[in-house]
Amino acid sequence: YRSQHQPRDNSMGINLANDDALRSLASAMNATAIGQWRAAPLVPGANPTGELQPVTNPADRREVVGHWLPADAATVERALANAVAAQPGWDATPAASRAAILEHAADLLEARMPQFMAMCVKEAGKTIADSVAEVREAVDFLRYYALQAREHFAPIPLPGPTGESNQLQLSGRGVFVCISPWNFPLAIFTGQVAAALVAGNTVIAKPAEQTNLVGYAAVQLLHEAGIPQDVLQFVPGDGASVGAALTRDPRVAGVAFTGGTDTARLIHRALANRDSGPIATLIAETGGQNAMIVDSSALPEQVVKDAISSAFTSAGQRCSAARLLLVQEDIADKVIAMLAGAMAELKVGDPALLSTDVGPVIDADACQVLDDHARRMDSQARLIARTPLPPGTEHGTFFPPTAWELPSIALLDREKFGPALHVVRWKAHELDAVIDAINATGYGLTLGIHSRIDATVERIVARAKVGNIYVNRNQIGAVVGVQPFGGQGLSGTGPKAGGPHYLPRFATEKTVTINT
Ligand code: NAD
Ligand code: ALA
Repeated sequence: YRSQHQPRDNSMGINLANDDALRSLASAMNATAIGQWRAAPLVPGANPTGELQPVTNPADRREVVGHWLPADAATVERALANAVAAQPGWDATPAASRAAILEHAADLLEARMPQFMAMCVKEAGKTIADSVAEVREAVDFLRYYALQAREHFAPIPLPGPTGESNQLQLSGRGVFVCISPWNFPLAIFTGQVAAALVAGNTVIAKPAEQTNLVGYAAVQLLHEAGIPQDVLQFVPGDGASVGAALTRDPRVAGVAFTGGTDTARLIHRALANRDSGPIATLIAETGGQNAMIVDSSALPEQVVKDAISSAFTSAGQRCSAARLLLVQEDIADKVIAMLAGAMAELKVGDPALLSTDVGPVIDADACQVLDDHARRMDSQARLIARTPLPPGTEHGTFFPPTAWELPSIALLDREKFGPALHVVRWKAHELDAVIDAINATGYGLTLGIHSRIDATVERIVARAKVGNIYVNRNQIGAVVGVQPFGGQGLSGTGPKAGGPHYLPRFATEKTVTINT
């Protein structure tokens, strides 16, 4: 399964410092039919009924940007039946042909970057910079998994005695359900679907309830690129109804899930409780309680820049985001003072404006969870800074970037998904205890280290039970094929998205021995 690491260029972005590039981006984004966007089940032979639901802009809830129609029970049933019927034919299609379709889709997506960016801004509240990164990552996943499929799905000849030929072949597992979160509505959605498809599975894609419009547009694009309609179906709906119905169905051979840890447990249980059908594969990528450890040899200016970027980019709505800044006491006062100063400079507001650093959180429920958390922290911890919300934000779902100093890591319980940072000081002799406390959270996704002492870095790397470690830089924005991404423990089952071991998990292996 070792990748040969063939050369492959990641996609080009847009230079947001170039006026001409910005002008053409703005005019292309403005030309998109905001308000007219639609999403509905894409299931051949189904006639979904029900009421269209409005989709509103997280930055201004008065703005309706589109409508979506959830799948009803008959549509879910039809999708499952279609997927079962189409799978053998799709699996028999050469992997190179499947890969070529993904590559065509990547080209189409790259050419339509502004339209997809507009949707990411208006439906998911992403900033312009985040939206560029979102489309690029989706393009990169398509090309990366296409390349991986060409490599992995060629039959592998194996040694054997004279007169015997041995071969290992990979093929699809069957029907895969791909369930994605709203915080990467295009990149993660496309990555899961692309991997499952190119491995020879038929796919039922269920996007997050909050971002159906982006998911629908992505599936339409994949159909246009050449994926047959019954091979990739779009089945939007609530997790508790549509998601649960899909994952308890015995016709499903595997689930690729990205989202919260509790939801992963529900899905795991649903798959395990089925009385018939295959023992299904679950690939789950879940939450984090991510720390950045800073020792006294670190550069405070660099620490603050990277902590701000790691905690507040995407309004902190990244599984990789830093939630805990653990600073050795010798430099803690300085780092905390600089952090407060830097937070005062953050621009919170409309993500459609290039000047905005921090946009809205995804919905009112997310705001409520963060407000409750803030109330608890305000009473139990010391407020370091709270960036004020400017006028206009009252129409959206905004939470002010906030940092507190806590006496202990133990004061935090679960992942809080938003722009909330918690600072804890530690003493030189406590380094191992600090790492153990991070491990004791049970999460294991990202870890930042700021130190100029090699031995300290090596010690932390060796002891920390996490998936992605970043030294002397920020800890978000893993690049496909460069920083394979994913965690352990409460943070996920592995394998890593955008890494060489991801694709084989979507496949089953067949060994063929011929007595010649
Ligand atoms: P969520 O768990 O609420 O929802 C994720 C998806 O699961 C949605 O499509 C939802 O409809 C579906 N779902 C909900 N209940 C279900 C059920 N019973 N059966 C089947 N499907 C069900 O998560 P979210 O709020 O959309 O996303 C935020 C979470 O995702 C955070 O915890 C974040 O850390 C995590 N995340 C992890 C990664 C990673 O790579 N590790 C990446 C992005 C987000
Ligand atoms: N892959 C995303 C990141 O690294 C979640 O930020």
